[in-house]
Amino acid sequence: MAKLLVACVILTVALFGLIHASDLILGTINTGDRILYSQVTTAPGIPGGLVSRAVNYTGIYNITAIRAYDRTFNRTGQAHITGGGLYQRYVNLALQTRFVGNALDYLVEIYGR
Ligand SMILES: *[C@@H]1O[C@H](CO)[C@@H](O)[C@H](O)[C@H]1NC(C)=O
Ligand SMILES: *[C@@H]1O[C@H](CO)[C@@H](O)[C@H](O)[C@H]1NC(C)=O
Ligand SMILES: *[C@@H]1O[C@H](CO)[C@@H](O)[C@H](O)[C@H]1NC(C)=O
Repeated sequence: MAKLLVACVILTVALFGLIHASDLILGTINTGDRILYSQVTTAPGIPGGLVSRAVNYTGIYNITAIRAYDRTFNRTGQAHITGGGLYQRYVNLALQTRFVGNALDYLVEIYGR
């Protein structure tokens, strides 16, 4: 019984982590910040393979918030920064699937001032 409970807790934590790992949320969006970039990036799933896309943004404003929302039903993507970021004028994001065969579908928003 105790073992089952522990297993359930671990599973819940793992699932929670899975759900939250999909979105990338950095910085806060304050009044006066303008939206610098808002675009959906998708890639069809490849049987037996993982897919990835890069979103490289460069502008003239100081980036104050970065959002990458996983729009896939099962939330099977992952997003991370490969260059630049908050308080810089550019950011490079890598969007990838975590499971073989899954499609990629992200809404990326970048705010700055
Ligand atoms: C995603 O979820 C749907 C519905 O629950 C399921 O049928 C499908 O197999 C899932 N896909 C993956 C890759 O887990
Ligand atoms: C985007 O940036 C990454 C480095 O973070 C680089 O490897 C990649 O070639 C860049 N892609 C484009 C289209 O500039
Ligand atoms: C960008 O904004 C941050 C936070 O407001 C500030 O500390 C930093 O100096 C700014 N950088 C530039 C290059 O304006």
